[in-house]
Amino acid sequence: MSTLVHALQADITTLSVDAIVNAANSSLLGGGGVDGAIHHAAGAELLNECLQLGGCKTGDAKITKGYRLPAKFVIHTVGPVWRGGMSGEPELLASCYQRSMELATDYGVHTLAFPSISTGVYGYPIELAARVAIKTVRSQLQKFPAIQEVVFCCFSISDLTVYEQALSE
Ligand code: APR
Repeated sequence: MSTLVHALQADITTLSVDAIVNAANSSLLGGGGVDGAIHHAAGAELLNECLQLGGCKTGDAKITKGYRLPAKFVIHTVGPVWRGGMSGEPELLASCYQRSMELATDYGVHTLAFPSISTGVYGYPIELAARVAIKTVRSQLQKFPAIQEVVFCCFSISDLTVYEQALSE
């Protein structure tokens, strides 16, 4: 059965999927943006579990429970800070999506929602990031047949338009 890959506009903390992905920083101790929203919605137990994880390298991902979120799990990944595109940013961003799908598979996740990693505070141009995200997810689907649905959760309509354009290419 082929995997459904689509984009929608929502606050990712409201999605009833098996796992949502958090655009975290390497400390995994919370922050602003989607990281702040996820920690706020999940509650203090999420931070307590994150404290045990010992941080996360850029391009890697770690998984926790979802606590008060509708999602069962949170996959925390650390995207690259945009430095002009010549410092390995595309490869590190692709790694965030791949590592998240690997962890999702390890934990029996069938439905997975990504925010637009690195395109906020980390400054990655969304038109470029969306293409890396979609290309990576599509190229990895065969490796992860248990993943039945991947949602690109866009916070704004303008971001959704970018993802829908990239998905149609
Ligand atoms: N639901 C879905 N998407 C959201 C939400 C939300 N509730 N809140 C913000 N976003 C979107 C932003 O609009 C942006 O498109 O998530 C995308 C990623 O932006 P950031 O959250 O700023 O993440 P990032 O650019 O990866 O920077 C990570 O920011 O919050 C800190 O601790 C975090 O230091 C880390 C850095």
